[in-house]
Amino acid sequence: MIRTTTLGDLTALMQIETNSFDRSSFAMSRQNFIYHINKEAVLYVYEADDTLAGYILVFVRKNSPKARIYSVAVKESYRGQGIATALFEKAISYAKETAKDTITLEVRADNENAIKLYKKLGFKTQKRLKGYYPDKMDALTMELFLNL
Ligand SMILES: CC(C)(COP(=O)(O)OP(=O)(O)OC[C@H]1O[C@@H](n2cnc3c(N)ncnc32)[C@H](O)[C@@H]1OP(=O)(O)O)[C@@H](O)C(=O)NCCC(=O)NCCS
Repeated sequence: MIRTTTLGDLTALMQIETNSFDRSSFAMSRQNFIYHINKEAVLYVYEADDTLAGYILVFVRKNSPKARIYSVAVKESYRGQGIATALFEKAISYAKETAKDTITLEVRADNENAIKLYKKLGFKTQKRLKGYYPDKMDALTMELFLNL
């Protein structure tokens, strides 16, 4: 059910993106998806009933011990079924395979659902970045330390 993306997923990815993020967040454009897919990033998609139900974009740079979750979103009608959790488990396995010791991410300080998810997965808050988002909302940086 989880696989790496292909360019054929772009329309479905953009649908999830525009329904999940507004201008107050850093939503990805079609060009952003293409750019990141071709760089040092892995994008996993979750398929359910022939539908692309969610994605997670993970950055893994050769010279850094840390992996970074750049974005994650689940289609609205598929939320609350453990899909984001499954995508994170895949991303965590990938980070371990590539010998990363930490996973980092940023989240809007008012995104309670996402923060709850990250805490449940074991992420701890590191810093608060004042006025980080386009609408001046703060970001929390969070980290998960991996037992290699
Ligand atoms: C945040 C998001 C990715 C969660 O996806 P999901 O597949 O519904 O998450 P899961 O079903 O794996 O939920 C796991 C845990 O997250 C928390 N959680 C997720 N959605 C929640 C909600 N609506 N209300 C309360 N807790 C929630 C809960 O702790 C949940 O565990 P539980 O079901 O045992 O209570 C999804 O709501 C989404 O796409 N939101 C819009 C995009 C976004 O905000 N992305 C994060 C940007 S940093």
